[in-house]
Amino acid sequence: MTSPLFAPLELRGLTLPNRIVVSPMCQYNSEHGSANDWHLMHLGQFAMGAAGLVMTEATHVLPVGRITHRCLGLYSDDNEAALQRVIDFCRRYGVAKLGIQLAHAGRKASAHPPAAGGKPLAADENPWTTEAPSPIPFGPGWHTPVALARAGLSEVRDQFVNAARRSLRIGFDLIELHIGHGYLLHEFLSPISNQRDDEYGGSIANRMRFPLEVFAAVRAIWPAERPLGVRVSATDWIEGGWTVEETVVFARELQALGCDFIDVTSGQLDPRQKIPLAPGYNVPLAHKVKSETGILTMAVGLITKPRQAEAIVAGGQADLVALARGMMDDPRWAWHAARELGAQALYPANYARCSPAQWQP
Ligand SMILES: Cc1cc2nc3c(=O)[nH]c(=O)nc-3n(C[C@H](O)[C@H](O)[C@H](O)COP(=O)(O)O)c2cc1C
Repeated sequence: MTSPLFAPLELRGLTLPNRIVVSPMCQYNSEHGSANDWHLMHLGQFAMGAAGLVMTEATHVLPVGRITHRCLGLYSDDNEAALQRVIDFCRRYGVAKLGIQLAHAGRKASAHPPAAGGKPLAADENPWTTEAPSPIPFGPGWHTPVALARAGLSEVRDQFVNAARRSLRIGFDLIELHIGHGYLLHEFLSPISNQRDDEYGGSIANRMRFPLEVFAAVRAIWPAERPLGVRVSATDWIEGGWTVEETVVFARELQALGCDFIDVTSGQLDPRQKIPLAPGYNVPLAHKVKSETGILTMAVGLITKPRQAEAIVAGGQADLVALARGMMDDPRWAWHAARELGAQALYPANYARCSPAQWQP
């Protein structure tokens, strides 16, 4: 019996060798948005570890869209050259396909990284004015964002497109737009953060309008043979917030625009959220989106064990599984999962002899 977790998956012209994804992980280690040797190591270790797809951390399309001063960006020629070096390195030595997550942090920008407390930057820490659908702060003590006017919306959309063009030049196989975790595009979806009274607020059709415009603009320049998907928080986990039923409606709209997969996460829009944390807690949300729309889904969140991941894919609850913390703990997770499940994984030539099948007596 072949392992469903290690079955290849075709997305347009891209064939992923298996269903395992290294989830995006912010590193807060860039300089003026540019990647450096840390990223060679961070992404390089995953690229050789045989997950089918390795995603970059949230890569911001504008300086004001960065979460912190040290976040990764793709808004300048310097950023592009620095990321090109990292991705060339991953291609030369790794075996995984490579995806980029494009993002804008909206009202959650201008903050400290989680390891430094995650709070908004203070007045003497070079903060900047944040942008959002409405002038409503993320929580007590957070910056009050300015509401994006029409020109600002066009600028953000165009910068997503520019970053996608840069991603194409760098040679990424796939793009994921970040429409989750309370960042800008998610802020448009949720009635908690979007209280506009123009055509971008109010009804669900209006709240979806800007994220759909950004998606369509990126799809228009991203080659037809390359997959484009989105990460969505399927629910805000708070009364009066974005719901999974709305996510299903959104998924159908995205599907009609040529979206190839929905990466299903949840929450992070409002600090009052109550997330029922448990192993695989987003899997039922991914399953609902998949079963009601037919779109391919990726599940993420406390998926840590090979047999757990295998059951999610084998049971048709999601088509792909993404791991973040489990991958940092074990960058060779996919090799070890293959061993446990009796499947084959890819090894870079220099490491081929480390597979125990090659040396165990
Ligand atoms: C260090 C770290 C950085 C993260 N950065 C991002 C990010 O850049 N973009 C994103 O969508 N999610 C980010 N996440 C969330 C993960 O991608 C993932 O959804 C979450 O950690 C749950 O998966 P896990 O239980 O396998 O860690 C981050 C998580 C961690 C631990």
